Amino acid sequence: MDLGLKDKVAVLTGASKGIGFCSALALAREGAKVAINARNPEGLERAAARIRAETGAEVLPVPGDMGVRADVKRLMQTVADHFGRIDILVNCAGSSPGGLLLDITEEQWQTSLNLKFLGYVRTMTEVIPYMIRQGGGRIVNVIGNDGVKPIYFELTPSAANAAGQAVTLALAEQYGPHNILICAVNPGPVDTDRWDGLEKQMAKDKGITQAEARRLVERSIPLGRIAKPEEVADLVCFLASGRNTFITGTQINIDGAQRKAIMDVPGAWLASS
Ligand SMILES: NC(=O)c1ccc[n+]([C@@H]2O[C@H](COP(=O)([O-])OP(=O)(O)OC[C@H]3O[C@@H](n4cnc5c(N)ncnc54)[C@H](OP(=O)(O)O)[C@@H]3O)[C@@H](O)[C@H]2O)c1
Repeated sequence: MDLGLKDKVAVLTGASKGIGFCSALALAREGAKVAINARNPEGLERAAARIRAETGAEVLPVPGDMGVRADVKRLMQTVADHFGRIDILVNCAGSSPGGLLLDITEEQWQTSLNLKFLGYVRTMTEVIPYMIRQGGGRIVNVIGNDGVKPIYFELTPSAANAAGQAVTLALAEQYGPHNILICAVNPGPVDTDRWDGLEKQMAKDKGITQAEARRLVERSIPLGRIAKPEEVADLVCFLASGRNTFITGTQINIDGAQRKAIMDVPGAWLASS
């Protein structure tokens, strides 16, 4: 299937590793030019070199912190100056600590909402004027199933994700007349560095080993495993592509039909597994 991505210009935040990196690689394989962002310049250069080597695509690494408005503005300006346009935005630079209500500090709440929610709002605010001027675009917000399946031990992601999902749907309605299609993709557990950290936190909170935490999560997913980042990247790639002409203002869970309540009964799980 030709996805109509040849020579399209895509900006991906949080793209030096994990889902963002795999999405950049997938878009580059389909012929897009990609600008990738993360904070650490060395990691970003390594990611850019790998995408160039595997696809031959033009890759522009732009370091910056999506928690800082000036960096977001500079990112979009740099990409527009370099490529002359921006067709696609993929938001992946998000992070929210796990933890329980009585343990989460005020600062952790602020940090979580500042990046995972407001970071996505900032990039959309800065990119939409470019897309309006050029007659359209695609925005894919990689958010997370906590927003639609909230649970107490993932409290800050649940809140930040629900807020991001609301803004995604609202903006799709506002900017549909400008031919800007905006969707949310909601992964469940995905095998990335971020997931490794969450799994460790979960093991600590529940007083079990990380291997037990992994099995507990796998049992919550009817498909019996957690996702690979490439599986999420394929969905992102399609939604961002020219082949997506009518999917907007919606969110797609990519979580193997996860049922989180199962993770709430470790005793029962340990006894039965
Ligand atoms: N993995 C999962 O299980 C899972 C599940 C649901 C939702 N998600 C969501 O999917 C998205 C991607 O997650 P992932 O697992 O792929 O993460 P990951 O493997 O930890 O990668 C995170 C990426 O974001 C960059 N980053 C972090 N903070 C940043 C900031 N302030 N500004 C710019 N870049 C930043 C990191 O590079 P630097 O550190 O160099 O900045 C890295 O490139 C996140 O929004 C996450 O919440 C993930």
